[in-house]
Amino acid sequence: MAERDTPNYWDYLRLPDLLDLQGGLEGDDSQLQPDELHFIIVHQAFELWFKLMLRELRLARDHLAAPTVPEEHIPHVVHHLGRVNAILRLCAAQFAVMETLTPQEFLAFRNKLAPASGFQSFQMREIEILMGLPEQERVDSGFGDPLAFLRRMARDSATGEKVVARVEKVLKEQTLRDALHNWLYRTPIQGSVPEAPGDEERVFSFVEEYLEQARTGAAEQRSGLVKAGVLDAEQAEARFAEGHQRSRDFLLAKDVDESQRVRTRRIRSALLFIESYRELPLLAWPRVLLDAIVELEEGMVLFRHRHARMVERIIGRRVGTGGSSGVDYLDATTKYRVFTELWAVRTLLLPRSSVPALDNSEDYGFAR
Ligand code: HEM
Repeated sequence: MAERDTPNYWDYLRLPDLLDLQGGLEGDDSQLQPDELHFIIVHQAFELWFKLMLRELRLARDHLAAPTVPEEHIPHVVHHLGRVNAILRLCAAQFAVMETLTPQEFLAFRNKLAPASGFQSFQMREIEILMGLPEQERVDSGFGDPLAFLRRMARDSATGEKVVARVEKVLKEQTLRDALHNWLYRTPIQGSVPEAPGDEERVFSFVEEYLEQARTGAAEQRSGLVKAGVLDAEQAEARFAEGHQRSRDFLLAKDVDESQRVRTRRIRSALLFIESYRELPLLAWPRVLLDAIVELEEGMVLFRHRHARMVERIIGRRVGTGGSSGVDYLDATTKYRVFTELWAVRTLLLPRSSVPALDNSEDYGFAR
């Protein structure tokens, strides 16, 4: 650190330390293969962005996890998520820099680093866990669960204990998904809040009304498809009935354990409510928040997809340095969705002209 009081650029940013960290396994960048410095710097730049993403995600989560979230705090959540989203866009674009490495250039030093792999990026695991990716949703990489894998790798590493402790810490934290759900659960639906008498019935009748409107809308679309000769009447009837049943089961939370059903139903209805009446002043920030979360998930999917394309270009379909099937494994991870409810609700949305009449509209105006 600086010994004198006058701040300067390089001491403030610890640049001498930072620029000493690109020596790879040799510890000295003059010993690296010609394209290895490029490989190390690109990875380190990503890991620095991951560090900032973790901080911003935690700040967003902390605001949202408060027992009550005042209206004026929602812009803070959106602000932190907006930064994460900008970083994710940048990271996806950053793979273009990695792609200047040709397959042959990578082969010149690839064996040296095996079995090291991005699969051991503990910060990426922390991001996934903090967002709320359920462990049982992970695709089979062939190495078992990533934390157990990190633990195994950590045994032979001087810094292993620290790495494992970081991941174990985040496993104990509240996820962004849980914080979002707790906040959604408290959303006033048709002016009713969870603790209000008759709330369960109010939510139920909102859902029933919504589904009825959806059925009417679907009937119009169905007869249009039959008239145009795209589907025969029987096919159309079966397809739309199935879609309706799926929507119903989702909104009534038939897929979750009975003990969680009322709560889940309220969370899903709240999403539908915010999305449906998104122009109401009191719902304006909540819907911007939901859009930011959708963008976050989309950003993660695009990041994974972009990484897989870059990998395919550089190593084709061969086994990864970490030992997975490589591109096939990476493509399978693009199916991950943390905020499944937000995506599911998009299937059900109705045009504004068809949504049920709003009760207690005065509750959703500007605060006086
Ligand atoms: C030449 C460049 C690269 C190649 C060939 C490559 C290849 C791979 C492969 C094959 C995997 C699957 C695990 C394995 O079997 O090793 C993987 C995982 C991963 N890589 Fe890369 N990668 C490259 C660059 C990068 C960069 C620049 C990053 C940015 C941090 C990155 C981040 C990751 C992450 C986070 C995973 C874990 C994915 C998951 O398990 O969900 N990779 N990489």
